Amino acid sequence: MTAMTTSPDWWRDAVIYQIYPRSFADADGDGIGDLPGVVSRLLHLAELGVDAIWVSPFYVSPQHDGGYDVADYRAVDPVFGTLGDADRLIEAAHAHGLRIIVDLVPNHTSWDHPWFQAALHLGPDSPERACYLFRDGHGPDGAEPPNNWQSVFGGPAWTRVTEPDGRLGAWYLHMYDTSQPDLDWSSPVVRAEFESILRFWLDRGVDGFRVDVAHGLVKAPGLPDWEADPEARTRPPMWDQDGVHEIYRAWRTVLDEYDHHPILVAEAWVEPPERLMRYLRPDEMHQAFNFEFMFTPWDAARLRSSIDRVRTASASVGSVPTWVLSNHDVVRHTTRLVMPPAASHVRGIGPNDPQPDEAHGLRRGRAATLLMLSLPGGAYLYQGEELGLPEHTTLPDETRQDPTFGRTLGQILGRDGCRVPMPWEELAPAYGFSSTSNSWLPQPPAWAHYAADIQQAVDGSTLEMYRRAIALRAAHGMGAGELTWIESPAEGLLAFRNADITVVVNTGTEAVETSDLGAVLLASGPVDVATSGHIALLPADTTVWTT
Ligand code: GLC
Repeated sequence: MTAMTTSPDWWRDAVIYQIYPRSFADADGDGIGDLPGVVSRLLHLAELGVDAIWVSPFYVSPQHDGGYDVADYRAVDPVFGTLGDADRLIEAAHAHGLRIIVDLVPNHTSWDHPWFQAALHLGPDSPERACYLFRDGHGPDGAEPPNNWQSVFGGPAWTRVTEPDGRLGAWYLHMYDTSQPDLDWSSPVVRAEFESILRFWLDRGVDGFRVDVAHGLVKAPGLPDWEADPEARTRPPMWDQDGVHEIYRAWRTVLDEYDHHPILVAEAWVEPPERLMRYLRPDEMHQAFNFEFMFTPWDAARLRSSIDRVRTASASVGSVPTWVLSNHDVVRHTTRLVMPPAASHVRGIGPNDPQPDEAHGLRRGRAATLLMLSLPGGAYLYQGEELGLPEHTTLPDETRQDPTFGRTLGQILGRDGCRVPMPWEELAPAYGFSSTSNSWLPQPPAWAHYAADIQQAVDGSTLEMYRRAIALRAAHGMGAGELTWIESPAEGLLAFRNADITVVVNTGTEAVETSDLGAVLLASGPVDVATSGHIALLPADTTVWTT
């Protein structure tokens, strides 16, 4: 257990672990993870060696989108515990040497939020309507939505309300589920409220905020219709509008009033990297997830150019890259990297789809992890990846909870497959996730083999590989290092120096001769190490760190 650094730049090379609290650890036995459950497993994270945790939303919510539909930003949902439990978690995380980042959901509230309820029940003239994007419909009787925007979760992005007098009235915008009305960020009331929410959690000691849908808060004036046109390369009127930046500048001044160096990290699905970097100008956010790297196929040349683009773009604003391979919204990388690109990554994988080769996925996933953890900059891990968990690809439809599944009538399966509760103990009920056998999504029986307890202290296990990688990365200063490419004669090989370590990744399908590599410090898979400590052959889908 290490103490937290006091450096204002702590985040620049930090390894941060995402906790999806519904699925991490369930202390009260109802089958849904909770904050006391998180506290009970902090030792696992301290031993893993991460610097911080990011906890997905645990606020009061009707849970139509796993808590990303917040009804009270200053209270904990009873399913997760109490505000006292949140305070205990913050304190316990710090006692374990871990900073704690919480999720902030500013693009929309839940429809249960008191503002939205007032906007519905007090009618068109209520001040609360001005906090949301209510508009009259088009056509006779306003029966057509105000524009043609589609929800990210499928179907129209507008829902019509029944006014207090019983007549059909205005429509409200929701870029996500109907239960998630978008806020109107031109409202000073909305701005003041979120600055107050930031202070509420900063005063409780949190070390930062992961900002949900950070590219979505401001919409183009007039909410114009939009036809996606890949050729025109115009920016959609609902995303990445220039007006978002002044919001983050204002938040940054709030954060900078606190002397424990809290950070903002953007979830911004923005392309190209040059646009994303605008969120990271010195007076805005600290980090932004590099989703481009996440979705780069397993191909040496493409990985190299993706890494270079992000490094160059980050440097242009004096920032550093933030690497990530998995989170609660995408197919886990151990599965994704061996599936055909695109479709399955956003659609999810079901029992009627071609199934991934699990062993191959684990091999490639581990190699990708050792690549990610060897890169300079910050890195985010998603719970369970340190156990090598694959996506659950055979969930029965009736167990699915992602709103996408219902809104697309099953056309898009959604994200439940990456949200299945953690296996902690091979032989315990619910593999130790819950004190009972309850689990809000069913765990596949094969997950017994991934349980944390049977990987503990086992040479070559995925858990031990992650621990060792994080420890070596820290000991050799790789997070704060400089990357220098090594030109490689063999196709499919990616090779570079960082700090005093040489990293070689074989993305090809054949083993490659590597006679001039140094002594092996860490390998993502089995390699034949001669008595000299060197290897002669680097197998396919393998990464090695050598000195
Ligand atoms: C973000 C979250 C995702 C959520 C959506 C709407 O993309 O990561 O889980 O569904 O925002 O809040």
